[in-house]
Amino acid sequence: MDGNLIIKNASELVTCSGFAAKRGRAMSELGIIADGAVVIEQGQISRIGPTTEVMTELNASGKDLSPFETIDAFGKAVLPGFIDSHTHLVFGGYRAEEYAWRLKGDSYMDILHRGGGILSTVTATRRASREELTEAGLKRLASMLAFGVTTVEGKSGYGLDRETEIKQLEVMAELNRLHPMDVVPTFMGAHAVLPEYKGREEAYIDFMLKEVVPEVASRRLAEFCDVFCEQNVFSIAQSRRLLTRAAESGLKSKLHADEIVHLGGAELAAEIGAVSADHLLHASDGGLRAMAEAGVVATLLPVTAFSLREPYARGRFMIDAGGAVALATDFNPGSCFSESIPLVAALAALYMNLSSEEVVTALTLNAAAALGRAQAIGSLDPGKQGDVVILENPSYRFIPYHLGVSTVEKVIKRGTLAFDKCRQGERPC
Ligand code: NIG
Ligand code: FE
Repeated sequence: MDGNLIIKNASELVTCSGFAAKRGRAMSELGIIADGAVVIEQGQISRIGPTTEVMTELNASGKDLSPFETIDAFGKAVLPGFIDSHTHLVFGGYRAEEYAWRLKGDSYMDILHRGGGILSTVTATRRASREELTEAGLKRLASMLAFGVTTVEGKSGYGLDRETEIKQLEVMAELNRLHPMDVVPTFMGAHAVLPEYKGREEAYIDFMLKEVVPEVASRRLAEFCDVFCEQNVFSIAQSRRLLTRAAESGLKSKLHADEIVHLGGAELAAEIGAVSADHLLHASDGGLRAMAEAGVVATLLPVTAFSLREPYARGRFMIDAGGAVALATDFNPGSCFSESIPLVAALAALYMNLSSEEVVTALTLNAAAALGRAQAIGSLDPGKQGDVVILENPSYRFIPYHLGVSTVEKVIKRGTLAFDKCRQGERPC
């Protein structure tokens, strides 16, 4: 029966046990159980432990085991489902042409400032119907699921007007209904400045606060408010005003911070107690320390740095400073057209100097914390949602080691098999 599952004989049950972000050294603690088992009942984890103990207990409990499916994970590592806590997954059109310009030396920001980049996706997204956006969204979710992602965050921000911002958020609600994966929506109306608002960014923030945020909040179309806090986009003062006012309406704060230049986004995130600050390529030591102290999750997006040929964010420094780091893809049609979790893991390990253990924590429990959901997902703890990945390899160490290639064999969402490489005819299992 759906939602009832026993996974046993896992070479490693990587529990990532915890109910809040792990900071600093604690990021290396994965709570591994050798030869482990996990029991999921009605979509929720009910037991974890060594296989012999779990099975003995189950049998002694007198519980009717007939509704349970069983998966033998002998020789395979079992982990919590990955959480992609930063994406821009609902958009119209693509920007392959712009990528070609960037290969010839054009900069990402120059393209944006001459009306391309995010603004060209805005035009395409305004034109796209709900059905087109939903259909494209479902395909993207299917690809993410195959990488082991069981919860994904998605941002609006390709509308920059009331109607299209709401349309994007409604499409995310629809995707959440149609697809087994959980989609966590973020309102990002402050993603770029339209030409008609150039030099009048304050008026644009006023418009968003008066005309869009109240509807987004009252209809619960988003859980977070995000802003592109960047030179020549939205300033620190403008970002502070938007996020503080949106928080009064119930939207929790996130920031695209210090991505292209050092503006002080990390400091602002600490000051206002944002749930996460993301990118942080150019964040200052002081800003990162302030974030660590304030418990703001640092969400790092290594594939964006790779794609923009920018220096990587200083993940090692952040963890050594006692911070909580999460990793995500930043999947979007411009700065990072990739939903590849294996690429995120490999780049974080090789160029941000994270250990394999830290990579796993950053993709699970800390990513859950970046979405304010560490109580419900991100680890294999009794009471949490039954979201699980089974690798084709015996250890979590294969995740950053198999460069750019997915090690995920099966994905379970709320106790039900949602993806199985073995059934795709891709490989014998
Ligand atoms: O996270 N920097 C702003 N937003 C996205 C890119 C969006 C786009 O290029 O379409 C980012 O990099
Ligand atoms: Fe982004």
